[in-house]
Amino acid sequence: MNWIEGKKCSAEDAAAMIQDGDILGVSGFTLAGYPKAVPLALAARAEKLHVAGESFQVTLYAGASTGDSCDGALSRAGALKLRMPYQSNPSLRKGINDGSIRYIDAHLGKMGYLVRTGAVPAPTVAVIEVSAILPDGRVCLSTSGGNSVCYLDMAPKIILELNTRLGESCIGMHDDALPELPPHAKPLPVYSAGDRVGSEFVKIDVNKVIAVVENDAYDEVTPFVEPDDVSRNIGERILDFIRFEESHGRLPKGMAYQSGVGKVANAVLCAMANDERLGRIDLFTEVIQEAVLPLLKKGKLGVASGTALTLSQAAQQEFVQNAADWKKHFVLRQQEVSNSPDIIRRVGVISMNTALEADIFGNVNSSLVCGSAMMNGIGGSADFARNCALGFFLTPSVAKGGAISSIVPYVSHVDHTEHDTQIFVTEQGLADLRGLASEDRARLIIKNCAHPDFREPLTDFLEYGLKHAKGRHLPLALDRAFEMHNRFLETGKML
Ligand code: COA
Repeated sequence: MNWIEGKKCSAEDAAAMIQDGDILGVSGFTLAGYPKAVPLALAARAEKLHVAGESFQVTLYAGASTGDSCDGALSRAGALKLRMPYQSNPSLRKGINDGSIRYIDAHLGKMGYLVRTGAVPAPTVAVIEVSAILPDGRVCLSTSGGNSVCYLDMAPKIILELNTRLGESCIGMHDDALPELPPHAKPLPVYSAGDRVGSEFVKIDVNKVIAVVENDAYDEVTPFVEPDDVSRNIGERILDFIRFEESHGRLPKGMAYQSGVGKVANAVLCAMANDERLGRIDLFTEVIQEAVLPLLKKGKLGVASGTALTLSQAAQQEFVQNAADWKKHFVLRQQEVSNSPDIIRRVGVISMNTALEADIFGNVNSSLVCGSAMMNGIGGSADFARNCALGFFLTPSVAKGGAISSIVPYVSHVDHTEHDTQIFVTEQGLADLRGLASEDRARLIIKNCAHPDFREPLTDFLEYGLKHAKGRHLPLALDRAFEMHNRFLETGKML
């Protein structure tokens, strides 16, 4: 009997090995490759203990967001004390916003570094979904890289969840490597999306493994929805602009694309797949979303490098069936590598992320509604926005049926400062802010990106600032900066 057989147990038995106060470092990134059976069993255990009057809560680190059987079940069971570094689950969001769950919203490229340097406590138990376990102690991760190598290395105890549904589909897709820690860290030689610098398997210390649990579950990703008109419009504007820049010699061919999360980001990839003039492209991104499959099927995908392959259930089935042909197009990295500032700069990335709101001076809020209510988090958007060669922030010009303007006088929370943003795109138009000073940026954003209903109040705010702000460099009138947000909170409409 090899070591694996001796560690096999039920999810319930594995969950019983987790203690109140443990810090779990789980696999998973943007709903891909997270453990499913043990968190569900842990949630059930926590509920029973709470009924019996005992306290039971854990801290949960992941790569980014996990699915409902992890983030959702643990939140609803009251089993989460602290969550880090990203989430997108409605139950967890509710807990964060009602104050019952602590949340640290961190740059995804930085999370592993914080753990490896001891800036935050190391996980006490790593719970990692894998697609293969070899007798010599090597494992192949499943549909995401995330921070799994870091957590497997740093945690004194390991629980492995073997996803039997995946077969050999993930073998050969991973490139497991971590950057050296400073000082004097040598660069990882990744120059293009397809460069491989690590290993297909992670070598683990089998003496740390306390349980091996099987699951055959799918990543819980919502079905792919074809882009609506607004998102399609935004996607086409971006492609037109890129072609314009290329034709004027301002953008070398061969840049790789990064596409953020959400429906607008998906729409850009769809527009690329449908654009007959666009040749083969590479992605150097964080989440490889489902909209990459049309590119692949049309022969337009070179390599997609990322840390997660986030597919709906139907697409997961399709992927497993076609993995032998398809996986040469994918490289799954650890997120410290997929989101590494120096590699993003070296590869040359055209970055596209979605904003909740942007202000007329160029600051972007990606995470907090009205400055206090968490939506998802900053994710990896800043890793890319600051280090990309060309950066877009996208948003429909209005939200909630026109009650909210996505272009505001001043953002209610700053995720990306005016120094890190370059080009804004809404369905109204595109504003290239590069080389423009504050007042000129403001006039261009209002003219090209704001919804017509909001252009007048935004211009009024700017003119007022030019008269009453302390300085003219950035004519921000503090007394009126949040007028639109306050009106929305009072009346449900920004106008
Ligand atoms: N104020 C309040 N609510 C707003 C809003 C605003 N300014 N703008 C959008 N919303 C709401 C929408 O109405 C929608 O609400 P609903 O779920 O109740 O319908 C929700 O926010 C999501 O907006 P949607 O238009 O569906 O956008 P999306 O799916 O493209 O997601 C973000 C947009 C910003 C939430 C998402 O991209 C995100 O979390 N980004 C931050 C992380 C990130 O960029 N990661 C990628 C890095 S690689």
